[in-house]
Amino acid sequence: MNLPFTLDTDTVWYAIGDGSLDKSAHKLDDFPRIIILVDENTENHCLPVLYHQAPNLKMCDVIRVSSGEKNKNIAQSSYIWNELTRLNAGRDTLLLNLGGGVITDSGGFAAATFKRGMRFVNIPTTLLGMVDAAIGGKTGVDFHDFKNQVGLFVDPVGVIIDPVFLKTLDSRQWQSGFSEVLKYALIMDKDLWFRLNGRHFSEIDDWNTVISKAARDKIDIVRFDASERGVRKNLNFGHTIGHALESFFLRTHNETTHGMAIAAGMICEAWISARLFDFEEDQLNEIVTMIDKNFERFLFDESKIQLIVELMHQDKKMRDNKLYFSMLRRLGKATHDVEVDPQLIEASLLYYINQEK
Ligand code: GLY
Repeated sequence: MNLPFTLDTDTVWYAIGDGSLDKSAHKLDDFPRIIILVDENTENHCLPVLYHQAPNLKMCDVIRVSSGEKNKNIAQSSYIWNELTRLNAGRDTLLLNLGGGVITDSGGFAAATFKRGMRFVNIPTTLLGMVDAAIGGKTGVDFHDFKNQVGLFVDPVGVIIDPVFLKTLDSRQWQSGFSEVLKYALIMDKDLWFRLNGRHFSEIDDWNTVISKAARDKIDIVRFDASERGVRKNLNFGHTIGHALESFFLRTHNETTHGMAIAAGMICEAWISARLFDFEEDQLNEIVTMIDKNFERFLFDESKIQLIVELMHQDKKMRDNKLYFSMLRRLGKATHDVEVDPQLIEASLLYYINQEK
C-alpha cells in the first residue's frame, strides 16, 4: 500500500495515511464557507496542527462543545444548531468535525439535520475514530440510557485520516481503538492479523500501515452495505457481549473502557464461534492469547452472569426476542445473523472468568 492514498467513492472521498492532511487540504477550498467543530481537547491539541497544515482555516468560525460520551446527547445537538443559527450557517456551509467518535457522531448528526442537511467532513483525531467512527455514515446521539438511539445514516463528503493527530492520545484511547483494529484482523484481514499477532499495541511502530489497512477494511464493508442489512453486521463481532459488559461495569463500577469491553466480548464470541463452526482450538488459543496480551480481564463472579445476559436483551441486534450474533467461521472470516442460545452465551462468560491465563 503506497501511503498516503486517496480514494474517491460515489459519495465520499477519503485521504488516508501520514501526510494526507497536507495532500487533501485543497479539497476544502471547494466549499464557500467552513465552520469547525471541536471539543476542549481537540481545540488545544489538534486545531493548531490543522491550522499549521491548512492555514486558510484560521479564518473559519469554531464551535466548541464539551468532550465525552456523557455529552453526546440531544442538548449538545441543540447547542450546535443554536450556534449554526447564530453564525448564519447555510446549506452551502461545511461543518468540519475535528475530534474522536463523539465529535464525528454528534457533529454529523447536527449537520445532517440542520436546514435539512449541511455537508460535513470528518477529521478523526483518535485511533477509534480513524479506524471506525469517522467512516461509514453512522451519525447520532445517545438518548436516555441508550447509546446512539437517535440518529441517521448519512455519509460525510470526505474523511481525512492523518495519524499526525495521534501524538497526544493516552493509553486508554490507544486501547479502545486497538480493540477495533484487532476486530478487522479477525473478521476479514488475516494479513493484518499476522502483522499484529504477538505484539502489544505499545510495540507497534508501523501505525501508518496498520491504520490504513484497518480503515480500508471498514471502507470496503460500508461501500457494500451502508445501511447494515448484511455484511456490515460482521462489524458487530465482539460487540453484543462486549456492550453488555460495558453497561454492566458502567453501572456497577462507574467506569470501564470500550477497548476492554470489546476485547472481552471477542474472547467470549470467539469461544462460541469455535463451538458452532469448524474452528481449531489452536486458533482460538492464539486469538485469546493475543487479546490477553493487550487487555486486562474484567473480574466478576458466576452470580453476575445472568444479569449480564439480561443486559444483552436491550441490544439493537435483538429480533423476536432472540439474540443474533456475528461470529467467526475461522480466523479472518466472519458471518452474521447467527442465533445463539442463551445457555451458550452463559457458558462463554464462564469460560472467560474461569480460563487460566
Ligand atoms: N461501528 C460499526 C459500524 O460502523 O457499523
